Amino acid sequence: MDFTNKTVLITGGARGIGRATAAAFASRGARVAINFRNNHQAARDAVEELEGDGHLAIRADISQPEAVRQMADAVVDEFGRLDIVVNNAGIFEPHPIDTSSYQAWQDSWNRTLATNLSGAANVCFCAARHMMRQGGGHIVNVSSRGAFRGEPAQPAYGASKAGLNALSQSLAQALAPYNIFVGAVAPGFVDTDMAKGYLDGEAGEAIRRQSPLNRVAKAEEVAFAILFLASEQAAFTTGCILDINGASYLRT
Ligand code: NAI
Repeated sequence: MDFTNKTVLITGGARGIGRATAAAFASRGARVAINFRNNHQAARDAVEELEGDGHLAIRADISQPEAVRQMADAVVDEFGRLDIVVNNAGIFEPHPIDTSSYQAWQDSWNRTLATNLSGAANVCFCAARHMMRQGGGHIVNVSSRGAFRGEPAQPAYGASKAGLNALSQSLAQALAPYNIFVGAVAPGFVDTDMAKGYLDGEAGEAIRRQSPLNRVAKAEEVAFAILFLASEQAAFTTGCILDINGASYLRT
């Protein structure tokens, strides 16, 4: 896979899957914009580590629609075009229905949907406007196995990722006439900061055993699948949701 002369925006790219994806794109020739919310230093470090020149770190809270618009415009101003967007930023917070207060429940739903679903939808909107003008592009959304398997203690997360799948498929149809291709990856547990508390804890062994490979995914494995969906040769996969779960949850 070669991304020479391609420009890429990755939301939440200062750590985890986003950071591994930025490194993978840069090592194959792309110029990468790493979006971050708060941790400017981590984003700067991530940019420093990338192969090649001309990468940038760009601040935006993607749950804020105006910030998303400004981010997309700034990336296009800097790069001249926007070929690939990876909607990677996401939050995963517990709000079990049997122990949460009604207020905590609502707060979690609002925060989770604003980031994982509406935030991603707004990034798609703003990016697609630029991509339509320039004659095409690729969008890859980072969903989750939880969309299919359920998330008993994080129901808003499961719902947000199911919504993200539906969004990806709707946009694959709406944007195909513009030569814009949209796909999603649906990882099971991945070895990142987001999952650390679960993987290091008592449940870690059982989580690893969910896969017959007896492990969880590495961020680099998810990155590879993202690059595949974003590559020119994968255009006809548009609308697909690619499972990356080590056969821990099989759907037909
Ligand atoms: P992470 O927590 O290490 O990274 C997520 C990044 O998104 C962080 O840098 C965070 O600051 C950023 N972010 C969160 N809200 C933001 C906002 N409003 N604006 C801008 N940035 C924001 O998590 P990880 O594991 O790298 O997750 C990346 C994606 O993969 C997420 O969408 C997550 O739901 C998904 N995923 C992760 C799995 C896992 O087990 N780690 C499993 C399945 C999906």
